[in-house]
Amino acid sequence: MKILVTGGLGYIGSHTVVELQNSGIDVIIVDNLSNSEISVLNSITNITSIEPEYHNFDLADKEACNLFFNNNSDLDGIIHFAAYKAVGESVNNPLMYYRNNLESLMNIMDNMNTRGLSNLVFSSSCTVYGQPDVLPVTEDSPRKEAESPYGNTKKMAEDIIRDTIYATDLKGIALRYFNPVGAHPTALIGELPLGVPNNLMPFITQTAVGIREQLSVFGDDYNTHDGTAIRDYIHVVDLAKAHVIAIKRLFENKNKRDFEIFNLGTGNGYSVLEVVKSFERVTNTKLNYKIVGRREGDIEKVWANTDFANKELGWKAEQDIDDMTASAWKFQLALKK
Ligand code: UD1
Repeated sequence: MKILVTGGLGYIGSHTVVELQNSGIDVIIVDNLSNSEISVLNSITNITSIEPEYHNFDLADKEACNLFFNNNSDLDGIIHFAAYKAVGESVNNPLMYYRNNLESLMNIMDNMNTRGLSNLVFSSSCTVYGQPDVLPVTEDSPRKEAESPYGNTKKMAEDIIRDTIYATDLKGIALRYFNPVGAHPTALIGELPLGVPNNLMPFITQTAVGIREQLSVFGDDYNTHDGTAIRDYIHVVDLAKAHVIAIKRLFENKNKRDFEIFNLGTGNGYSVLEVVKSFERVTNTKLNYKIVGRREGDIEKVWANTDFANKELGWKAEQDIDDMTASAWKFQLALKK
């Protein structure tokens, strides 16, 4: 099997490339380094002892995209990660988000369609559920109005894939990630946020290592057991493994419908303070944090019902919250060296 991984040098993409190569699958990476580092290619090679083929171009560039597919007619499938993902940035630059995230997808699907390349795995997000009325969230829970242009690109991308599959011979799986955190056990790859992190886990590890002075916990007046917001954090390696299963499922025609959607979470919700406590427990340190007001656009609580993924994919997240905080910390410490 030979799989194109777009955004394969990014956070989730790089962990997925490692799991694909460890499963004996050939990988070609396309990544324009807009939010990733070329050094990740070396790290992947060090972990797996295989250097994946790599191309640097922008998939939203139709000509470059067509040229790539002209030269790579032997692909068995595509795992499409390449996209912008900063919620706040998307609010300030909506067109940049719509153009980048949707044009790249449409260029890829155009080529899949004309070249008879049928298997697509897409990285979607639990953000499509907004604040769900019923928890845990199943795949049939209604999607809500997106809170940001970023969230809307995930929702629209799902629709573009669904409609295109309906009209063609293509097959696809959308994986709705809950909150991916943690890093590879080698600490050679992990989350590398540029500038001040928006997400909780890199902010925690950067605070502990002294890059940030203090973690702000956004809100302690939510309707949760300790007042802080609840998310379903999932270890990035567990997430990466689900992609290998998903692309094989399509390749081996084991899918039950042409377009399938799976929640990828652990099924457990943790509050912000519980993540902080886990971090303090596994690192045996005290984290400097203070409670501040809520962050605009945040929802109160969400966690996944993972029954469908467990049953249909035969996949289950294996690592717990302490594994997640410990691996994120190990990666942060390795970065310092
Ligand atoms: C956000 C996006 C999601 C996106 C994900 C990864 C929304 C609604 N969700 O998830 O679509 O896929 O980022 O980019 O925008 N927190 C703090 N202090 C901090 C940072 C975070 O208290 O410094 C809290 C947040 O309020 C939240 C939790 O930690 O309750 C997790 O936040 P974060 O890691 O940013 O992820 P989400 O907002 O859940």
